[in-house]
Amino acid sequence: MDGRELVRSVRVVRTVGPVQGLRSVRAAWRRRRADARAFGRQEAERARVPGTATRAEPRPGGGLIRFARSSLRVRVAAGGAVFCGWDGAGPEPSYALAGACPEADPRAVLEPDTEGGWRVVSERVLVAVSRHGAVEVRTPGGVTLRRELPPRWWDRTGPGDAPPEGGGASRWVQRSEVAADARVFGLGGRAGGPRLRDGTYRLWNTDPGGAFGPGDDPLSLTMPVQVVVADAGTHLIFHDNSWDGRVTLREGTEGAGSGHDRPGTCEVRMDGGPLRYWVLLGAPSRVLQGWTALTGAPALPPRWALRYQHARWGFGSQEEVRRVVAGYRERELPLSAVHLDIDHFDGHRVFTVDREQFPDLPGLARELRADGVRLVSIVDPAVKAQPGDAVYEGGAAADAFVRDASGHTVRGVVWPGESVYPDFTDARVRKWWGGLYAERLAQGFSGFWHDMNEPVSFTVFGDPTLPRSARHAVEGRGGDHREAHNVYGLAMARAGYEGLCELRPEERPFLFSRSGWAGLQRYGGTWSGDVATGWPGLRASLSLVLGLGLCGVPYSGPDIGGFSGEPSPELYLRWFQLGAYLPLFRTHSAVSAGRREPWEFGSEVLEHARTALSERERLLPYFHTLGQLARLTGAPYVRPVWWNAPRDRELRDCEDAFLLGDGLLVAPVLEEGVRRRAVRLPRGRWYDTATGRAYDGPGQVVVEAPLSRIPVLARGGAVLPVTGADGATELEVWAPGAGRRGGGVVVPDAGDGWRRPEVERFTSVLEDGAVVVARQNGGAVGYPVRVRGVDA
Ligand code: NOJ
Repeated sequence: MDGRELVRSVRVVRTVGPVQGLRSVRAAWRRRRADARAFGRQEAERARVPGTATRAEPRPGGGLIRFARSSLRVRVAAGGAVFCGWDGAGPEPSYALAGACPEADPRAVLEPDTEGGWRVVSERVLVAVSRHGAVEVRTPGGVTLRRELPPRWWDRTGPGDAPPEGGGASRWVQRSEVAADARVFGLGGRAGGPRLRDGTYRLWNTDPGGAFGPGDDPLSLTMPVQVVVADAGTHLIFHDNSWDGRVTLREGTEGAGSGHDRPGTCEVRMDGGPLRYWVLLGAPSRVLQGWTALTGAPALPPRWALRYQHARWGFGSQEEVRRVVAGYRERELPLSAVHLDIDHFDGHRVFTVDREQFPDLPGLARELRADGVRLVSIVDPAVKAQPGDAVYEGGAAADAFVRDASGHTVRGVVWPGESVYPDFTDARVRKWWGGLYAERLAQGFSGFWHDMNEPVSFTVFGDPTLPRSARHAVEGRGGDHREAHNVYGLAMARAGYEGLCELRPEERPFLFSRSGWAGLQRYGGTWSGDVATGWPGLRASLSLVLGLGLCGVPYSGPDIGGFSGEPSPELYLRWFQLGAYLPLFRTHSAVSAGRREPWEFGSEVLEHARTALSERERLLPYFHTLGQLARLTGAPYVRPVWWNAPRDRELRDCEDAFLLGDGLLVAPVLEEGVRRRAVRLPRGRWYDTATGRAYDGPGQVVVEAPLSRIPVLARGGAVLPVTGADGATELEVWAPGAGRRGGGVVVPDAGDGWRRPEVERFTSVLEDGAVVVARQNGGAVGYPVRVRGVDA
């Protein structure tokens, strides 16, 4: 047991108590034995590289290049996305892709080059494959964005055997080079970002086993997605492989014009699975549009899920829920949902209710709903292995639970004790599980919070999850947990989402999930997980939201105030103020932690939290519009400040501010005692929304950040839909700088169903000192207009 495991085992016993602790020791031994039985004998491995190119055959969108010991399929899709698959790997099957693989670009052509290699030439991208299997992705102008060196495999097949078609159990590594000035973002939710500094990042969804900070990695939602931003251009690379892996990044250095740049490097090392990847290039907005076209449009949360929500592990009774909701009502603080954690279950068993403490949940739900407050339920995947438990019996009858290699049901330990795990990689099981949400709907719940779905089995040593040898259906192909682990949460989200669509077809489901993988956005969002209370945790919160947004999952947010312990009033307030500008705006904390209601931190904090809440309510039409735009274009609500200026190096390195849509720049306070702060501005005019003072970017300015608010700047020319004094939407228009035009988009609310609203576009221009706002395609503006910043 190493130091980390020792800490984990102490935490496990402290969290779950001695009886569960003992069970988890047993489960850990079982897991170890199962894996030893299944993978016992270390098979001989043989290293392999592609060798030299022998010939190439044109194929739709590119071609198939044959090497002495492998082959490479290069296929450019009509939108410009490049697919590369070694050893016969094709784009499908894939857990990430939303539907059928996009059409090949009919105009992409395969040509030999002069050095024994090949090139695929298309309008949007050029892919050059060297004689030894290095692959360069270049812009149409010939600038290289990425150079993949020839990969290396370690085949677990006997000597002389052919390499596994489509990739199998062979480990592989691929090194690549990017520009010396490149910065890398993404890899899912990372606490130490958003810029991913030099280091090794594991691709294995992991419950950190306690509250985490910026130094903890990996966390619950990893993804082999990197967004690389350099002067030469922006690209996204996605290794479509769900196995355990490690990405080692090293930023490059520039030789100050000496021509001796050291490129940035990236090494992807996977324990198995196909070597296949996609590359998308272009402006950041184009890249995200392409990425969500490939992996699915982000689900649009219902409007109420864009307002403030309160959660707690340990309300303990429906009376307490009532009391907390009354606290919000009495203080006239807006509240849109209350989230019930595992303590409302009967003995922590999923899809049950503790009837003693929550005797009438449907009644409570109705009563709260009349006040505009919804209930959201936690849903854990693990099912208590208890004869007589309806979910357990139903699952056993449906043969829904994961088995080990010898056919026995795999047991782990989670909150209810010894538990079994539905195999969500089986369509039949997803269908069964999706039907179980009927019970939740009957209890009056409106939304769902998927937890512990890495999946977790408490452990005192080793990996806190299922044995790697556990068998999964993998959509009928058959496989084990090494392949299924990282997509477990994603497949559970699919089960919940599809079940809810069937059970309540008239409403868009609202769900968010702790774990997931590429494509999670199709079904819902996520949240930070158990971020540690403390200033570093506050910083990690922003890193997670920004990184996930760049990986295509735009809806997320932290546990405001942190999950553990007690934040100081100042820390709580700064977290609350940041949360007010993030898509999921939710307070939450652990059963052993202090309270998170805004009135628990003194009257000054309460008043400032009230200001943040009312600003969020005012911005609701803007948030709704951003949700719609995320659905339509993949652009996240929360964007790095370099979003529209990826070539601005100062912006690339700015990690303490973000753009909220195109119109606002939010500069949260992330340090104790800070009352003014530096803000790096992108090009153009920016107004401090509190003082109205105008600044011209690019450059750095210092703005006031009193305890009462965090700095928010509006882009000159921005047209923002906001709630007016009468509750109806109005347009807040910030004067464009002289000689510049501005604009904005409004997507009106079309209810919580599936109706697709119109996208309304507006322009703004300064004419003779007055701001003129117009609808882009003519016609009346149709909203009251409030101009700001014109006298600045
Ligand atoms: C872990 C989750 O991350 C946390 O939010 C939740 O309160 C606990 N599980 C208990 O369900």
